Amino acid sequence: MSKSLQAIRGMNDILPEQTPLWRYFEGTVARLLDNYGYKQIRMPIVEFTELFKRSIGEVTDIVEKEMYTFEDRNGDSLTLRPEGTAACVRAVLEHGITGGGQVQKLWYIGPMFRHERPQKGRYRQFHQIGLEVFNLDGPDIDAELIIMTWRLWGELGIRDAVKLELNSLGTSESRGRYREALVEYLSAHHDKLDEDSQRRLKTNPLRVLDTKNADTQAVLVDAPKMADYLDDESRAHFEGLKARLDAVGIPYVLNPKLVRGLDYYSKTVFEWVTDKLGAQGTVCAGGRYDGLVEQMGGKPTPGVGFAMGIERLVLMLETLEQIPQEISRQVDVYLCAFGEEAELAGLALAERVRDELPNLRLQVNAGAGSFKSQFKKADKSGALYALILGDDEMAQQVVGFKPLRGQGEQQSIAWDALAAHLATCVVQG
Ligand code: HAM
Repeated sequence: MSKSLQAIRGMNDILPEQTPLWRYFEGTVARLLDNYGYKQIRMPIVEFTELFKRSIGEVTDIVEKEMYTFEDRNGDSLTLRPEGTAACVRAVLEHGITGGGQVQKLWYIGPMFRHERPQKGRYRQFHQIGLEVFNLDGPDIDAELIIMTWRLWGELGIRDAVKLELNSLGTSESRGRYREALVEYLSAHHDKLDEDSQRRLKTNPLRVLDTKNADTQAVLVDAPKMADYLDDESRAHFEGLKARLDAVGIPYVLNPKLVRGLDYYSKTVFEWVTDKLGAQGTVCAGGRYDGLVEQMGGKPTPGVGFAMGIERLVLMLETLEQIPQEISRQVDVYLCAFGEEAELAGLALAERVRDELPNLRLQVNAGAGSFKSQFKKADKSGALYALILGDDEMAQQVVGFKPLRGQGEQQSIAWDALAAHLATCVVQG
């Protein structure tokens, strides 16, 4: 196929055999968020470029190297959203729904775009489910976010394969003092730092903590620790969070080098990581951003949130073989009809059954075909039962009811009794 007719590198089709697992995952998360009282918000996929520069930070990898930015026909600079927090903050401000201290607990789902080097678990179009909470400043809500994800891992059967890493970045004042101390220390070891860290030392020194370079990591062993620079308020907040996680029994690891790749965080930051996916092991990440709304032109409004990568979590379900059996079957009953008269009767019968059993997954054969070919299709559909309408059944106003997965003999069921009969043998999703 010519290159221009292929999908863009790092942007994937999600094929019909994959969508049941995606829908199971998305449905499980949506139900959980509903149950905890979160409401869905939907933002556009494209925003003014300025929004991301101002919120994520000019000297982050995302803004410097990864955004899909283009000029539209009006000459405006627009960007495909690389993440959801910025747009969510813009939306709540624009609609005034966090004004007067109103609490908002919001979630969103959808594609995000980053021009990263594609590899397993890392794509240029990927999907997140994220959530943001506004106007709650205590550690109780930070804990709730983490508790919810913990419950989710439990429901999905992947709890043993993920680990929670936690850190506190403090307020912007304490972070400023820490930054100064770190710059002083790293400057004294400038020659031992890798090139990228030397550059970051000037532009975004905290990001040096994130380095993968072994020599720089060795220098960092004796570097000043963020924990020693935390202000009292941030310290108390962090202790409050830890006490709540302890109370619920959620294990965590303190990672003083966890700084995150976006500039808007303050106080709590966290990541759920796994060693089951290779290099791209962070499946869910977030933290508090108490200064962001104000920085974007709003009144001071505390905020906290996270986002999880759907591709990575779906990959985990596959890797750990945590795929519920019921999602592999998408058809309960398959109706085969032979001849024109039977086909018309079959259509009407199927609609009657659907009226009575709206959750039944009933597929009616399309494209006619011989007895053999329709049966083959019925079997391939994965259905538990075939319904058969041929000349004999038409004459007697019955339908043949044939188990396809070895649960007994074929029986004849009167048309009027069909829905009631199906209700007893098919567990409807
Ligand atoms: P983030 O850490 O940039 O945070 O992304 C969150 C999650 O999205 C990652 O942990 C990962 O699972 C997934 N992800 C990120 N980039 C890719 C990619 N290229 N391919 C596949 N998956 C990816 C944020 O986006 C923040 N907005 C989270 C947040 C919300 N913080 C506060 N509120």
